[in-house]
Amino acid sequence: MNNPDNMLNIALPKGRLGEKVLAMFEKAGFECPAIHETGRKLIFENPEKGVRYFWVKPSDVSIYVERGAADIGVAGKDILLEYRPDVYELLDLGIGVCRMAVAAKKDFRDDTARTLRVATKFSNITKNYYASMGREIDIIHLNGSIEIAPILGLSDVIVDIVETGTTLKENNLEVVETVVPISARLIANKSSFKFKNSIIEAVSAGIAQQLARTEENK
Ligand code: PRP
Repeated sequence: MNNPDNMLNIALPKGRLGEKVLAMFEKAGFECPAIHETGRKLIFENPEKGVRYFWVKPSDVSIYVERGAADIGVAGKDILLEYRPDVYELLDLGIGVCRMAVAAKKDFRDDTARTLRVATKFSNITKNYYASMGREIDIIHLNGSIEIAPILGLSDVIVDIVETGTTLKENNLEVVETVVPISARLIANKSSFKFKNSIIEAVSAGIAQQLARTEENK
């Protein structure tokens, strides 16, 4: 069920990426002065512009959007690939750019005759990736600090997000192969996209314009 009011509900990913995302929405003409006041509030409105923003955990954005508690939001492609929420993907925002990669200890040699032990937070992406290669694996699902798994012998390799590569380097691991490139995406609830189409299109067009300008200045 969508929120009954006519405001556009926008789920922002809390954190550094979220600040960049908010700047894009505001530049698109949907500013919200209240959100810049310091404090611990999580929901902010600008009735004049018809928008209500709220900060949620980045990996939860697609849950809010899929269920219609948010009309639109910004989620990483990693989350979209892992959980396959039933939402529309409207734009690649070109921020939060990183990649999903297989990494291992520097001396790792793959023995294809053996089942590969893979530690990851992204079990579905990992299963699909190795299934596409016909490789048998043993998934070890972890919730964080994935990089430790090969060091302690819990797994042979990991599948995780690599951005700068610092975490791998500092733990003596290296990328074996890239699984998929990742970036932040503007997503929309399917029914909101129909019923709040004009404002969603306005937000999306305003952001697309900024992306086009950035592209021109490259
Ligand atoms: C991710 C990922 C790596 C790190 C990679 O963790 O799991 O640990 O970033 O970044 P780098 O290549 O720039 O070092 P994140 O900080 O997103 O949090 P998480 O531990 O909750 O996954």
